[in-house]
Amino acid sequence: PALEKDFLPLYYGWFLSKRSSENLRKTGQAFLDELASVKVFKKESNKHFGGAIEDPKMKLDLTSYFVKRPPGVLHCTTKFTDFGKAPGSEDYAQQEAVKSSYGKAFFLTISALFITPRTAGARVELSEQQLLLWPGDVDVIPPAGSLPKGSRAHVTLGCASGIEAVQTGLDLLEFVKLEKSGNKGEEVGEIGGGKLLSYGNGMWMILLSKKIEVRAIFGGYYG
Ligand code: 2AM
Repeated sequence: PALEKDFLPLYYGWFLSKRSSENLRKTGQAFLDELASVKVFKKESNKHFGGAIEDPKMKLDLTSYFVKRPPGVLHCTTKFTDFGKAPGSEDYAQQEAVKSSYGKAFFLTISALFITPRTAGARVELSEQQLLLWPGDVDVIPPAGSLPKGSRAHVTLGCASGIEAVQTGLDLLEFVKLEKSGNKGEEVGEIGGGKLLSYGNGMWMILLSKKIEVRAIFGGYYG
């Protein structure tokens, strides 16, 4: 018999393989480098990314702007359970899909990369089967309300100084909210990996012309 209730992790999610993780980090960095040299971005970036560049010919170093990068392998959080303290944790942990998928391998699809003045991340497009592991209560952005299930699915690539990782998902929800309200982003050209979109307020997204598949194991992180 169990001594107590199961001990829940800090969060559940998909943990990328070391190799996929390294590749996605590299792709993310290449995106930041390339974005930093795009003219329209440079024109805008003074306003939103700290005004660190006086000389318009100088390139903003986005890699050092997003100074807080996740240690170890990258992951896509499904449910932040906070060791069982977060609302809905027990229910989530007891779901059949969660129990039966624990430790199983998946392929996740990355469809876009995005940055805001706060965070840099990769957008994850979940399959029907993967959506079974997605909690019902996280795609919410007050006061706009609920967005389609899985809207928040992402991999954090970096956060600006003083910003917590939880912000990346909230930023992605903001993009989805804008999309829903008719702002599909202004197409400002093609860069290496695909179509570059500007949503205003320092929010940029690149829709990958070739989606990236990453290998990942579903599980829990205990800290
Ligand atoms: P992330 O999924 O955007 O990277 C540990 O802090 C992990 O849990 C981080 O990866 C973080 O964000 C995620 N996280 C932290 N607090 C959270 C919260 N309140 N809701 C959802 N995810 C959270």
